[in-house]
Amino acid sequence: MKVFTTGMKRSHHCNQLRKDNAGSASTLIGWIDSLRDHGGVFFLDLRDREGKTQVVLDPENQTLSELFPKLKPESVIQVEGEVREREQGTENANLDTGDIELFAHSIVVHNQSKTPPFPLDESADKVGEDLRLTYRYLDLRRPSNLDCLKLRHQASLSIRKYFDEQDFLEIETPMLFKSTPEGAREFLVPSRLNEGKFYALPQSPQQYKQMLMVAGIERYYQLARCFRDEDLRADRQPEFTQIDLEMSFIDREDMYALIEGLLKTVWLETLGEEIQTPFLRMPFSEAMNRFGSDKPDMRFGMELQDLSEDFRSSDFKVFAGAVQSGGSVKAFNAKELADLTQGELKHLEDTAKSLGAKGLAFIKSENGEWKSPILKFLSETERETLKIKLKVEEGDIVFFAAGAWESSCNILGRIRLEAAALVEKRGRALRLPKDWKFLWVIDFPLMHYEEEEGRYVASHHPFTAPVEEDLNLIETEPKKVRGQHYDIVLNGVELGGGSIRIHQPEIQKKIFEEVLQIPPEVVRSRFGYMLESFEYGAPPHGGIALGLDRLVTILAGKESIRDVIAFPKTQKGQDLMTDSPGSATDRQLRDLKIQSIAEES
Ligand code: AMO
Ligand code: AMP
Repeated sequence: MKVFTTGMKRSHHCNQLRKDNAGSASTLIGWIDSLRDHGGVFFLDLRDREGKTQVVLDPENQTLSELFPKLKPESVIQVEGEVREREQGTENANLDTGDIELFAHSIVVHNQSKTPPFPLDESADKVGEDLRLTYRYLDLRRPSNLDCLKLRHQASLSIRKYFDEQDFLEIETPMLFKSTPEGAREFLVPSRLNEGKFYALPQSPQQYKQMLMVAGIERYYQLARCFRDEDLRADRQPEFTQIDLEMSFIDREDMYALIEGLLKTVWLETLGEEIQTPFLRMPFSEAMNRFGSDKPDMRFGMELQDLSEDFRSSDFKVFAGAVQSGGSVKAFNAKELADLTQGELKHLEDTAKSLGAKGLAFIKSENGEWKSPILKFLSETERETLKIKLKVEEGDIVFFAAGAWESSCNILGRIRLEAAALVEKRGRALRLPKDWKFLWVIDFPLMHYEEEEGRYVASHHPFTAPVEEDLNLIETEPKKVRGQHYDIVLNGVELGGGSIRIHQPEIQKKIFEEVLQIPPEVVRSRFGYMLESFEYGAPPHGGIALGLDRLVTILAGKESIRDVIAFPKTQKGQDLMTDSPGSATDRQLRDLKIQSIAEES
């Protein structure tokens, strides 16, 4: 049974009254959405969380007529009156309550509003985000923003129900954790009771959830808050929420089925849409080779081709040199984009260079001929090969990247996305919002060599189990070892990632110490408890975490995860509404035995 508030004696919410209620008394409370004076007949729209109702003031009522000019939009008022059917021809088909109005006998002003700093309608989308975030409590009154929070609530509910049905236990793990290497930069929290020591806020509940498996929980999930001190982008926040889970006695196939079921349920229960399962699976190397990304957007073509062998002994030294030194030549055809402006081309070149490219060679097919700064270097055979392999037609432009394989793929992968945006700018839709192209990206390398650090680092995290048949390569060819890691990708967004874990202490120790070259004493202090726990009956287990914010952003058809977070932070990690982060007082610092060396600004 629902529990209603009785204190204010609200009889209905603002999206409830219908024709059937005509003739009855009603009391509504809400915010004044708009005020209209129609030649002495006073109207206002009253809005609450659920919707709007038109209120018309009794023209005979002197008190109300005197009050009306003093009312301000966004003030909170309580209106008591009689529900009336609207006169024929004055109904509003855009409102659920558009057939009726509330004929007001009395109005109580609970709180008079100042004029808001920006209009609270859809025109506010054009208002600077900083101003909207400073007054986030006003911005959230806009129905489009409120809808995002409602959708997030629905998605969370549907997720919780699904995991409950699948016998998962929701368990909270600590927010005050300790520092772990290998991941993103962390937020540190000084410990007053342990002088000179720090907690770290968790980047994810990874280690705790594995401990829950050792503890015999078998199936754990949590909508877990995670913290990462990273540079922020549209799809990253310093604190965000993961749909985090872990299961014992499973293999990768079980995980694919579980997550496909979850996403199917969420799509059905929030959008009412059926998505097709099972999802496509693609090895990392194929995703890179074809789309230049480990999170490919498969809603459109423009796939990358490999031309390495075609240019191995070319006269064009930029290409031949790349192949001879072990790299690749990759290219793709940006269909019908030969009409790029100089500015657009420059932007693409700058993008490529920002990713480490030395240049961005291209060939345009325009007015029946090929145009390119590199054309003079290419033989007849090479031109013919390009024409066939890349299916070059009038109006197309082909882009090239030559260099190390992964970097060439990445560069063209990015240019491919930029090219799609330019095609769309020309009015040709490529990436339809409701075209759901889910896929699993699998067979990632377990680790990669980090030049800067001079050692291998885990591609996902150091707890991921190697693919069984690659175990014997760990010492000899670590680069070739594949991890039992899987990423779930949707339309170019990495929704989530996880893996089957190592549960044998000797393999975990070997990965830490011999492969990742973490000194034994560091391993002992950071992961000692974990290695020890694996000596007391650790079940084979695996898990995954999906970004809830990213998921809801996609469901809501929004661009930025800030749109689906009630109080998001700016690119600089600030909460403009509360003005956080702020300074600590001398007293606080003294208690924590911390001295600030930040320069006074
Ligand atoms: P991973 O680091 O891949 O895996 O994170 C899982 C998912 O979390 C989301 N995500 C973010 N969302 C918003 N802002 C961020 N800064 C941010 N960082 C990550 C992404 C990502 O796919 N412990 C492992 C999971 C596991 O192995 O079970 C982990 O955290 O959607
Ligand atoms: P260069 O001979 O170095 O002037 O390069 C000729 C063309 O190839 C220019 O258009 C460059 O932008 C382009 N280019 C140079 N290096 C690369 C590379 N590694 N990959 C792709 N294009 C390149």
